[in-house]
Amino acid sequence: MPPLDTKTRGRTSRGRLRALDAFLCRFERPLLERRDGPWAHAVFVDVGFGEHPWTTLESAQAFRALNPELAVVGVELDAERARAAQADADARTSFREGGFALPLRPDEPARLVRAMNLLRQGAPERVPEVHRTLTRYLLPSGLLVEGSADATGAVMAAHLLRRGVGEGAELPLREALLFHTDFSLGFAPMLFRDWLPRDLRRRVRPGEPIHDFFSAWSAAWQQARTLGHTHPPDAFREAALGLSARMEGVATDPWLLSQGYVVWRPKGGVCF
Ligand SMILES: C[S@@+](CC[C@H](N)C(=O)[O-])C[C@H]1O[C@@H](n2cnc3c(N)ncnc32)[C@H](O)[C@@H]1O
Repeated sequence: MPPLDTKTRGRTSRGRLRALDAFLCRFERPLLERRDGPWAHAVFVDVGFGEHPWTTLESAQAFRALNPELAVVGVELDAERARAAQADADARTSFREGGFALPLRPDEPARLVRAMNLLRQGAPERVPEVHRTLTRYLLPSGLLVEGSADATGAVMAAHLLRRGVGEGAELPLREALLFHTDFSLGFAPMLFRDWLPRDLRRRVRPGEPIHDFFSAWSAAWQQARTLGHTHPPDAFREAALGLSARMEGVATDPWLLSQGYVVWRPKGGVCF
């Protein structure tokens, strides 16, 4: 099976992951702020920052509004990109060459690991192995975010995986799927299909649970449009409310729905 950790062109753009930062600042605030015990030294790791460390630096700024001392580590498979990023390093921000075997010191547990836009190629069957590998660096209850976004960050979809607490803690729970759009491309649920995390992208077909999810979302969207909700933000909000009536675990938080986020957090996790 082809490996998933391959160097790619490294394309990135400023603001691409800003919506993810905003979501995490709002809903993972305790995780970002915690400073008790090992959390005092717990880092945010951005795996595969690309040809410029823009998204790492933007996240560092957003998260440090909550935790000014937060240490941030950008990791990149491409040695030249890791070297060039040294120009942006400072006392709390480092850039290191490395892969999924993260180049962290023993006194640097992770609170949050982000791996966005790097599993674009390779065998989808290997994704769980990558999730398990990256989860090992997290403190109990730490979070792994893995997914994709389009070039500008207009559309994004990601797995939220939580490291458990206690027995079996090293295994990641697929806690939720997160979707976001800024509406600049309009809205229809299928907008997200091409930006699904690697292991789900080819599985939106009959018989697959992710197909059932999108069928329910599309039906709710069609119904919203029939009722006159055609303006994209309006259609999005109504469709999300309709989806929440059809699928257990879809969040109806007003901020999420007004800002273009759907969070699906079924009891027991996303089991596929
Ligand atoms: C498309 S860029 C994404 C940049 C940024 N994360 C973003 O979302 O805009 C992907 C980068 O990930 C790097 N990469 C791929 N696999 C990796 C791995 N296992 N560990 C670290 N970096 C990796 C590639 O070399 C490339 O520079």
